[in-house]
Amino acid sequence: MSILGTPRPTTPATSAGPAAPTFSGNRALMLEEPLVFELGDSSTSGVDLEAVPAHASRLAELERSAPIGLPGLSEGETVRHYTRLSRQNYGIDLGLFPLGSCTMKHNPRLNEKLARLPGFADIHPLQPQDTVQGALELIHRLAHWLTTLTAMPAVAMAPKAGAHGELCGMLAIRAAHEARGDARQVVLVPESAHGTNPATAAFCGYAVESIPADARGRVDLAALAARLGPDVAAVMITNPNTCGLFEPDMRRIADAVHAAGGYVYCDGANFNAIVGRVRPGDLGVDAMHINLHKTFSTPHGGGGPGSGPVVFSAALAPFAPLPFVVEKDGRFHLVEEETADAEDHGRSFGRMAAFHGQMGMFVRALAYMMSHGADGLRQVAEDAVLNANYVLRGLADVMTAPFAASGPCMHEALFDDRFLEGTGVTTLDFAKALVDEGYHPMTMYFPLVVHGAMLVEPTETESKARLDAFIATMRDLAAAAKAGDVARFRAAPRFAPRARLDETRAARQPVLAWTPPRSPQSEAA
Ligand SMILES: Cc1ncc(COP(=O)(O)O)c(C=O)c1O
Repeated sequence: MSILGTPRPTTPATSAGPAAPTFSGNRALMLEEPLVFELGDSSTSGVDLEAVPAHASRLAELERSAPIGLPGLSEGETVRHYTRLSRQNYGIDLGLFPLGSCTMKHNPRLNEKLARLPGFADIHPLQPQDTVQGALELIHRLAHWLTTLTAMPAVAMAPKAGAHGELCGMLAIRAAHEARGDARQVVLVPESAHGTNPATAAFCGYAVESIPADARGRVDLAALAARLGPDVAAVMITNPNTCGLFEPDMRRIADAVHAAGGYVYCDGANFNAIVGRVRPGDLGVDAMHINLHKTFSTPHGGGGPGSGPVVFSAALAPFAPLPFVVEKDGRFHLVEEETADAEDHGRSFGRMAAFHGQMGMFVRALAYMMSHGADGLRQVAEDAVLNANYVLRGLADVMTAPFAASGPCMHEALFDDRFLEGTGVTTLDFAKALVDEGYHPMTMYFPLVVHGAMLVEPTETESKARLDAFIATMRDLAAAAKAGDVARFRAAPRFAPRARLDETRAARQPVLAWTPPRSPQSEAA
């Protein structure tokens, strides 16, 4: 198998002779697409540029002496190249995207329209503050929504993603301990946590210790309480957790952690399931990141561009990072430096980024909040939970749902692979077969607390008809696996632009750069 996966099927062998190769690789109107480097050559250009005479160049010895090998394509070829590539991608605008833990939400077009307004889209972070009063006001308003929805007094808007927010929260926690000369070294993380949690704690120099989950998929409270002590700096808890379940003991956990002198970091990536219903500040949380690209519908693709503001309790607010926006006499100011008289912010741990946050994401998130209002946001959470439970109940009799007996789930439905036992079909095969049915796979093999996990998050905007169609497909696949139709699963995906990738080889021997084929001249040399 090649590192790119098996090539598209070639024409099958016939009795008349060997298989004739299919050179195009095209599948009807879905065209196979080479790399842009393989398509273009440096003698072609999409624009007409006037040649600059050597003596007129201001680059002197920095003048380029040979082509640097960038591919040239005409404008039309360029448009076709990227359009063809985009058709090979699956996105939320194509169909249901049940990727659990990632919340692939519909991105309302109103948000996109507002983010493109020149007053937001064309500003520069180094512009004088007087010329960007509207942008600063928008950040201030968004911050107000976030502190109100969470009942937390302060927020840092700079972090650029959920994981970056975790780093921000944990740096504030470390600064708070250091400010009182308390050198605690341990951070407790439940075993169901997202991988970024222990990674963040370790990155901040802490030793990470795992807390087991109980039979209901929640934090084992007794095990946690037994481990708390003067060396524990913080507990990082995801709520709702990565099994798609609410942690009902959050208040008791927070009280115990505080009594032991630690802080509670809440991974708020799943806030979309409780926004408008639960305020983390009421649960005793000290710091929590919010993924705007999940809860507040900003685009979520390709690892960015995200935004992960962090809300802080009164105890941690003084250690929040710079910069932050304040309003004074109707004007908005970006406070960039610590000031001796700034009581609330005098002990900031520093900066998270050179510039302040992700303006485009801020505009989209505030547009989403304002278009829904507080009641609408609560309904978003309720509908997300309703849809996930509809999927859970629609599949629980044909798949195995490890925690279904302990009550409803939150925004995502968790299944394990017990229903596939003895079928020869694995979680991976099941997910690949789903691709052939026109769906992006659910999250696989996460969370790790159950075997062969399949985590399905439909989100709130899917209609009952779409959910019914998805459930019917999943039931059909479960029946096919149990009926022994292993071939259907092992061969999947048959209709995707690429068949199965050799994932192990791709991870162990990644090919990250394109190497030009050797020309006859270079061979001769
Ligand atoms: C529970 C949880 N925590 C943290 C993260 C990290 O967020 P980001 O991808 O924005 O860095 C995610 C992302 O999916 C998540 O699901």
